[in-house]
Amino acid sequence: MDGNGRWAKERGLPRRKGHEEGGQSIRAIMQAGLKLGIDILTFYAFSSENWKRPEEEVRGLMALLPRMLSKHENILHDNGTRLRAIGRIEGLPDHARKELDRVMAATESYTDRHLVLALNYGSRTELADAAQRLARQVQAGELDPESIDEEALAGALYAPDLPDPDVMIRTSGEQRLSNFLLWQLSYAEFVFVPEYWPDFREEAFVRALQQYEQRDRRYGGVNPC
Ligand code: FPP
Repeated sequence: MDGNGRWAKERGLPRRKGHEEGGQSIRAIMQAGLKLGIDILTFYAFSSENWKRPEEEVRGLMALLPRMLSKHENILHDNGTRLRAIGRIEGLPDHARKELDRVMAATESYTDRHLVLALNYGSRTELADAAQRLARQVQAGELDPESIDEEALAGALYAPDLPDPDVMIRTSGEQRLSNFLLWQLSYAEFVFVPEYWPDFREEAFVRALQQYEQRDRRYGGVNPC
């Protein structure tokens, strides 16, 4: 979700306003996803590198998170959507963590759809955490090092039950991964769109998905036709 700051700057508004409008885009994309039959959406909301931003901006984002969660919780309940979080969520401030835990627990039994928020997330950290988890199992005598394969590593990630994403969309014209789902995106299609995140609503989402639909996914093989 890139471009909140630029969106605000172009309007002479504080960056906070860009993040607030970006929060509205999350709601719009969730609703569009429901309409389009997309069952799993993952939003990169706060990276482990985002703590480097000015304190006031970080504080604003950490205040926006619980506000957004309580405001949009009804969409989750109405549509059987389970809220998940990936990242070192123990590093979030208590007030944000508390509301996140509450809504995750309240939606825990839903299995139809998943809304995943990447919070205090970094993919290299996720892989390091997975390596630590496996190492502890080896140390405890529960795991044979020879049996550590792709499946075992994937199983030690933050949300091992979720399938790899089909498509990764980044807004605002930047063409980077920025430490996002490095393992899980190995075979995903990447779509980079020019809109700033606060301007990324249903129409732009559909256009991005149309680009994805035109791709020929071969997973390293050849197309039989
Ligand atoms: C990137 O734009 C955006 C973020 C770092 C935050 C994304 C957050 C939201 C959309 C609101 C919801 C917030 C939470 C925590 C759930 P940028 O600020 O890097 O934009 P710029 O590159 O134009 O400066």
